[in-house]
Amino acid sequence: MKYKRILLKLSGEALMGNKSFGIDHDLLTQYALEVKSVVAAGVQIAIVIGGGNIFRGIQASEGGMDRVQGDYMGMLATVINSMALQAALEKIGVDTRLQSAIKMEQICEPFIRRKAVRHLEKGRVVIFGAGTGNPYFTTDTAATLRGIEIEANVILKGTRVDGIYTADPEKDKSAKKYETITFDEVYAKGLQVMDMTAFTLCNENKLPIIVFDMNKPGNLRKVVVGDKVGTLVEF
Ligand code: GTP
Repeated sequence: MKYKRILLKLSGEALMGNKSFGIDHDLLTQYALEVKSVVAAGVQIAIVIGGGNIFRGIQASEGGMDRVQGDYMGMLATVINSMALQAALEKIGVDTRLQSAIKMEQICEPFIRRKAVRHLEKGRVVIFGAGTGNPYFTTDTAATLRGIEIEANVILKGTRVDGIYTADPEKDKSAKKYETITFDEVYAKGLQVMDMTAFTLCNENKLPIIVFDMNKPGNLRKVVVGDKVGTLVEF
């Protein structure tokens, strides 16, 4: 295994699959199986999941809602997704613990860094819900922050595209994929990997990022083993 402890960031929107809202349960099960395969290999894994399939704070604020209110609603959406993922993992026999940045003790543990690390050491998958617990931060930033806190070796950003391209591959057919790229090149070329807060946090704390296609079965395991899947952002 190339990595011993990973922080997997999943997008809430990806969880919709081909639906226009909510959770595609087949896809959720597929994600759970992917996670199970790396747990079985002895890799410690923590997960942060977005909430965009349920609620997007930014869009709500564009529609006139108070930004902070919208962001808190988005954080609650991530807890719903986290609970769904927890249920899917437990159904296939994977031990999990869910910790939330906003206290909701009837539903899950509060975020306690030392406890999260102990859970990981015991082979449990730790899911971090409610983002950073603060408005104006994305779940990418939450993933980065938690990744740094638990001393993950790498952030794995699971998306629908299989890496970072010279241009948007869905719009520009001549776009080429990078196998590796440095943080400085991403800044210089103005490429979009994560939002700037998250990206800079990774850069300043020497946390590499791999962007890969989470929807391709077997990919997560390949990334963890060190196969060339997706794009590695390194120093
Ligand atoms: P260790 O015994 O320390 O290895 O960890 P553990 O998670 O098994 O111990 P604990 O007794 O803390 O937790 C038992 C169960 O209760 C786990 O499923 C936890 O996620 C859950 N749990 C712990 N604290 C809370 C809490 O504040 N709220 C909720 N809802 N569940 C909690």
